Amino acid sequence: MAESQSLYLCLLLFLFLHLLLPLPPALASSTPTPTAWPHQFHSVLFINSSGNLQKTDLWYDWPNGRNFNIIQHQLGVLKYDLEWNNGTSFYYTLDPFNHTCKVIHFDVGILRPNWLDGANYLGQHYADNFLCNVWEKVDFIWYYEDVLTRRPVKWIFYSGMIAHVMTFEVGAVLEDAQWQAPVYCFNEAETHEKSSSSKALLDSEASGALGGSFMREITTQHAYVK
Ligand SMILES: *[C@@H]1O[C@H](CO)[C@@H](O)[C@H](O)[C@H]1NC(C)=O
Ligand SMILES: *[C@@H]1O[C@H](CO)[C@@H](O)[C@H](O)[C@H]1NC(C)=O
Ligand SMILES: *[C@@H]1O[C@H](CO)[C@@H](O)[C@H](O)[C@H]1NC(C)=O
Repeated sequence: MAESQSLYLCLLLFLFLHLLLPLPPALASSTPTPTAWPHQFHSVLFINSSGNLQKTDLWYDWPNGRNFNIIQHQLGVLKYDLEWNNGTSFYYTLDPFNHTCKVIHFDVGILRPNWLDGANYLGQHYADNFLCNVWEKVDFIWYYEDVLTRRPVKWIFYSGMIAHVMTFEVGAVLEDAQWQAPVYCFNEAETHEKSSSSKALLDSEASGALGGSFMREITTQHAYVK
């Protein structure tokens, strides 16, 4: 009798404590959502695309409607991929490399700061030795965000291309003079490649020959899904 009574008390105490104690944060909050991108930042990315390595300086500048990928291929060419929110992209090289420029028009602008909204949460995993929350968006990108600082750590693309985020300077802005495409981009004699965005173009050009214009790819992918 006394035994069942104390058991009963234990149970009451247990229930009482449960009501008083807050749930651990992981259970109390709903599924985590990715942090929106800061409106301006500079990031250095190390990118491995099927063994081809590149270092990319990413200058994201949403208020000015522009995004820049400055791509150093390992022991190779330095390429500039300047993207405007009106859909125009300039891909060019400067001295000491040959003067080349391609102008491509996309139907989509640059990535919006909240482009990760609606991504599917896949739980927590380690990436590059950081504990990360992981999301997947439209079977196109797997996005790893540091649990502690909420900064991006790693992006994996459906193509197998992996970007490791080495620096993430919130608020850093590249000066206006650097956003000027060279004169030979505006010379009609140059091969201007005008095209509305198509998957074929992305598969053949943007992801391959152009050195991985992944930001436009993501945006275009979004446009297809919507
Ligand atoms: C790059 O990726 C390939 C697989 O595509 C892998 O074999 C190679 O080890 C990677 N290189 C580096 C430096 O991470
Ligand atoms: C988009 O904006 C850039 C920069 O202002 C400009 O050079 C380009 O011609 C514009 N493209 C179109 C289609 O208006
Ligand atoms: C640069 O242009 C010259 C002359 O047209 C050509 O011989 C050379 O192969 C080019 N170099 C590259 C890296 O494309």
